[in-house]
Amino acid sequence: MAAGIGVGFVIVVGGTLTMNHLKSRRILEQTRTVVVRPVLIPTEAAALARGKHIAQSRGCLDCHGADLGGAKVVESGAMGLWYGSNLTAGNGSRAGKFSNDDWVRAIRHGVGPDGRGLFLMPSEEYQHLGDDDLGAVIAYLKSAPPVDRPSVPIDLSLIAQMLVATNKIKLAADVIDHLNVRPPTVPPGVTLDYGRYLAVGCFGCHGPNYSGGKIETGPPEWPEAANLTPHASSRLTKWTEEDFIRTIRTGRRPDGTDLNVAMPRSFGLMNDVELKALWMYLKSIPAVETGKR
Ligand code: HEC
Ligand code: HEC
Repeated sequence: MAAGIGVGFVIVVGGTLTMNHLKSRRILEQTRTVVVRPVLIPTEAAALARGKHIAQSRGCLDCHGADLGGAKVVESGAMGLWYGSNLTAGNGSRAGKFSNDDWVRAIRHGVGPDGRGLFLMPSEEYQHLGDDDLGAVIAYLKSAPPVDRPSVPIDLSLIAQMLVATNKIKLAADVIDHLNVRPPTVPPGVTLDYGRYLAVGCFGCHGPNYSGGKIETGPPEWPEAANLTPHASSRLTKWTEEDFIRTIRTGRRPDGTDLNVAMPRSFGLMNDVELKALWMYLKSIPAVETGKR
């Protein structure tokens, strides 16, 4: 009977939704213990300025707001409402009560003081920040003027719950090898070492070998990431260093087409030394066909 099939269908679909809900909650609420190696937080003006430059050019403000008081990142019927939290010491912020270790645990490991994996916070791209750079970023964040704004709880749609439940969207805390987060301190310069260091900030989206393809940690409406290796299937083989720098700075390719907004524009705030080092490194890595992660 049609009615009978209908009821059965509703029960099966309803059951799957409930399971996704419970499983995603389990992943988001699971607590993790990570060993935090303390980082020295500097106080000199030069270190604060460096921290500000890193925070601005690595996307922190894209999600946490220009005033660091929190910002809307995703508002979509399909995904829900995702906010970056308030990082200042104002009312409505969790970070106001952070110890130095809490800052390091959140940024380097993607884990909150309560042990929960932070959702959307791309710590897999920040785990490489050396003690000097991370200390500078934390010093800058701690110096930010307080903003009174409640952190808006992240609301996951049913689809987003399903994507978390089935590991299509992963928490950085589940991707990072917590026992081996020991980033070296790399002096800035147009060198392969510095380029390799900066390029860790690209592999969350462009893949561990930079061949592009589907972005596992982002919403499914994002386009595939581009191939950054010197393979024939990559646009970069036809670009000069100048083309690369101009594209990152302007968000527009040499052929006049615009990059999708999923490619963070904040990287355009990197200075010449950083972008030249990145280009030098990307020219040196093995050529891999697009999407063969
Ligand atoms: C793609 C968006 C995004 C980017 C980029 C990003 N964050 Fe986050 N971050 C978040 C979200 C969302 C949370 C809250 C996650 C949660 O509550 O589960 C968070 C949480 C944090 C926390 C913990 C604070 C709290 O409320 O528990 C710190 C500290 C932090 N981020 C620092 C940074 C720094 C520093 C950078 C840049 C180096 C950065 N974030 C870049 C999205 C982002
Ligand atoms: C949050 C995800 C994300 C991060 C992080 C990211 N990218 Fe991208 N990037 C993308 C996406 C998605 C595209 C494809 C955009 C499009 O198709 O319009 C892209 C495109 C590009 C392009 C254009 C290439 C082409 O063939 O058109 C370059 C160059 C690039 N990224 C470099 C970088 C570098 C360098 C970094 C690290 C400093 C980086 N990206 C980090 C998502 C990201």
